[in-house]
This record gives sequence, C-alpha cells and structure tokens, in this order.
Amino acid sequence: MQYNSENMTFDTKPTLSDTQVLEFCKQGYIILDGVVPKEINEKVSKYLAKKIPPKPSKIPSHLTLEMLKETLDSPVEPNIILLEDWFINEVLLNSDLAGVLRSLLGKNVGLPVLVSKHSTECPQPAQPWHHDGDVVFGPEVSFLETFYYPQDTPIEMGPTDVVPGSHIGLNKFVNQADELSIATVASAGSFVLHSQSIYHRRGRSTGTGIRDMLKFNYWRTTSPTRDWIKQPEFDFATADYGGHFAGRYYAHMFYWLCGKEKDFKLIGGQGWPWNKPNQIAPSYGYNAQEGYKPDWSRLHEQCNCGINFTSHDVNSAYTK
Ligand SMILES: [Fe+2]
Repeated sequence: MQYNSENMTFDTKPTLSDTQVLEFCKQGYIILDGVVPKEINEKVSKYLAKKIPPKPSKIPSHLTLEMLKETLDSPVEPNIILLEDWFINEVLLNSDLAGVLRSLLGKNVGLPVLVSKHSTECPQPAQPWHHDGDVVFGPEVSFLETFYYPQDTPIEMGPTDVVPGSHIGLNKFVNQADELSIATVASAGSFVLHSQSIYHRRGRSTGTGIRDMLKFNYWRTTSPTRDWIKQPEFDFATADYGGHFAGRYYAHMFYWLCGKEKDFKLIGGQGWPWNKPNQIAPSYGYNAQEGYKPDWSRLHEQCNCGINFTSHDVNSAYTK
C-alpha cells in the first residue's frame, strides 16, 4: 500500500479479476463483510459520540481546528474524522476495500473529502425508493460510493435496500424494486461499495436503538485501463454481459473500464453482446466497425423514480 498524504491518494495491488469487474458492472455493488477490526469499529462509534478527543493529522488551510471540531456537532457531516490518522489507516485504507477500489478506479485512487453520517433511531418504516440527488447514468466509473457500517446491521436494524443492476437507470428496476431488491445485511466493520446511481432506500427496521452508517466517495484520478487481474481465458466475444435491455449497458460500462469505449459498437437484436451459452457459434456483431452506442438518456422516459424530467435532461445521450 502506498499512501500519499499530500495528494490524498493511494495505490495498491488490484484484487478483482475480469469476471469480477464485469460482475460489478452488472450488479452495481459489492459487499465486503466484517473487514474492519472490532476495536476500530468501536473507536469510530465513540469518536462520533465525542467520547474521544479529536486529533486531526493536519488542518486544511481554508479551515480552523474549531471549524473542524464543529463538524462533529453537524448531524450529517462529521468531516473531521477524515483527517484522523487512525481512521485513514484502518478504515479508509482498509486493505480489502483498497484492492477492490484500485481495480475499479485505477491507480492513485482519490480519498473522500466529505463524509455523510446516516444515523437512524430504530424502529423506522422504510424510506421511499429513490436515486440520490445529482445522479448521472452513463458507462463511466469516475467515482464509487461506500457505506461503512460500524456496528452489526441485521435485517432488524434496517440496512440499506438496493436493487441489483439498477445503477443504469432502467425503468424496469424502478417499477419492480420491491421484487428485485436485496437488503445489505452486514456485520460490524462492513463496506457496501456501490455505484452512486444505484436505486435504493433505507430499509424498514423493527429493532430498537441507533443504527449508524457513514457514507463517503472515492475518486478516479487516471484514465481507465484494464490493469486489474487479467484472466487468460476471459473472452470478450462470449462473456455473459446480462440479459435483454440491460446487458448492453453493463457491457458498455465494462468496455469503458477497460479503456476500450471507442471500440464499443452495437448492431442490435441478437447481435453481440447478446449471447447464449448453447448457441452454435459466437454472436454476430462482435468488434463491429459500424454500430451504435447505448442511448443512456432514453432510459428514464416515463420514469417514476422521483426525479423530475428536467433533472433527467442533464444526462443527455451518450455522445463521446
Ligand atoms: Fe439515498
């Protein structure tokens, strides 16, 4: 692990393979269960409850120590914790998380500059399903959002519900959210790494007590390239990119991550990337010289996800 405290970036060995990166493109999230040690999780909870004196490793020039300390009184953004050496080393640079981030965001991953604290007094009803504010839908993986649960978060404590695959913004995930969703049940010290565009809600809780969750983003600082663990047997022509409507978007995202976005062309129908294991020969259309890009802006026609149509307009058709 190389951590550059000046630039607030890190580099480490990627841990995901081709198949796992493609699986992330299809699911839009990865759960790393219980990877932060118990004593650190407890320290985080105590720190947030102001039972440990803050000792930030540096004070950014536009802030003062007082201003930083006040962030602990903020109900939503205790940003001072991002400057604590122990939190950087034991949580932000957790080796399991870092390997996955390095795979999906390339070299020199940028650390979070803002943290959101989502504390819920249980029991609570479920939140309405939603995409978070300022969402965009497109093939780029320019940043990734992470939930960190410092305490056990069983179903009774209302972990976040996500709809797998919904980060592409397709109407079917919105319309079938109850049916397709999963609860991110996790033990203390877990990360739920995900696309910020995933359709989600705070789940219904029936237990009692406070459920804490911290949310922060990691950032890409380099152009995408296929520098994770390459599998010699991985075949771009026959890989399983997903089913009708959605597979072409997941494939587009995978190609973008590989640094091959310019090569991505669709001819439609049963042409690549559509394929079935039992078909008698590879799909036509693989490596087509002429073709189309998926039109990400059309996905939300008649969408009822809660974002108004004006907001959707900012995500115009993918034209790069
Ligand atoms: Fe949300």
